[in-house]
Amino acid sequence: MSSQDIPEENLPAEQDAHGAVSVADDKDPFADPGLPPHEHRVQDIDERAARRSERTVAMLFTLSMLATIGFIAAYVGVPHDKAIYVFPIGHINALNFSLGLTLGVALFAIGAGAVHWARTLMSDVEMVDERHPIEASPEVREKVFDDWKQGAKESALGRRKLIRNTMLGALTLVPLAGVVLLRDLGPLPGTKLRHTMWRKGLQLVNMNTNEPLRPEDVAVGSLTFAKPEGLEEHDEEFQTEIAKAALMIVRIQPDNIKDKRELEWSHDGIVAYSKICTHVGCPISLYEQQTHHVLCPCHQSTFDLSDGARVIFGPAGHALPQLRIGVNEEGYLEALGDFEEPVGPAFWERG
Ligand code: FES
Repeated sequence: MSSQDIPEENLPAEQDAHGAVSVADDKDPFADPGLPPHEHRVQDIDERAARRSERTVAMLFTLSMLATIGFIAAYVGVPHDKAIYVFPIGHINALNFSLGLTLGVALFAIGAGAVHWARTLMSDVEMVDERHPIEASPEVREKVFDDWKQGAKESALGRRKLIRNTMLGALTLVPLAGVVLLRDLGPLPGTKLRHTMWRKGLQLVNMNTNEPLRPEDVAVGSLTFAKPEGLEEHDEEFQTEIAKAALMIVRIQPDNIKDKRELEWSHDGIVAYSKICTHVGCPISLYEQQTHHVLCPCHQSTFDLSDGARVIFGPAGHALPQLRIGVNEEGYLEALGDFEEPVGPAFWERG
């Protein structure tokens, strides 16, 4: 449908001598602006330019034909084991190279010819196609209903109750096959999501050196990452466990710890917090020792480690969970239990 065929009510109110549209008037500032004025291409008004475009398109299609012939010739004539040097790739198989090159040129030339043809010679008049109602007409609906009744009658489902009942039984049971396959999704998570590996007596191990941590290893102002004793990188479950159990250890002057529970759960100013951001679970890694703020690099959530790791900036909705720690008889830092809150994001909202 051309612009001339647009229903009258859809046409813009006014057009100037060039077809330009007056966008809106005072009464209706949101009036449909209609189609912009049509601009002629050079090929529309200059026959010589149109012929040039025609020759270009023909040349591209001819190039495609030649490349296809070249492809067949290469397939037949180029030895399988011949190598050639092609800059900058180096030495490659001559047959693969010639097949790829000729087929590539053949396809590209067809595409380029078609695009050039469409852009320069085919009609470029703007088209408007009105939406049609999706709903079927009453006659069509009635016909479908009649056909359905006719089909039911011909199949004799009403009369042949044995077939009907066994068919219903079969259709009811078939989905059970899918339900059984759900077993392949693995065991139910149980309480796994509520707990991490941490438990009373597990030593805190430095993630970089793989050595158990002593209080004297943690200097004021430093940030140390720790994992539970016994969790090794080659373990099958390493990624699953470390994603929940990774810790940040920092040492703060006890006088500077504002939160009472944090102080009770620390050891001589050493505090252990989950490294997993409570926004969407990125590992937190940036520590500002003057302010005791840690920053999540993903969306800049900032937590104050001197004040119960509460959120002071950013999208995270919850403080970082703290792990209660102490020192064992050998003088190493150890956990005094699991986290009391779930680590990471999302789980909070599950209740
Ligand atoms: S994951 Fe940490 S701020 Fe988004």
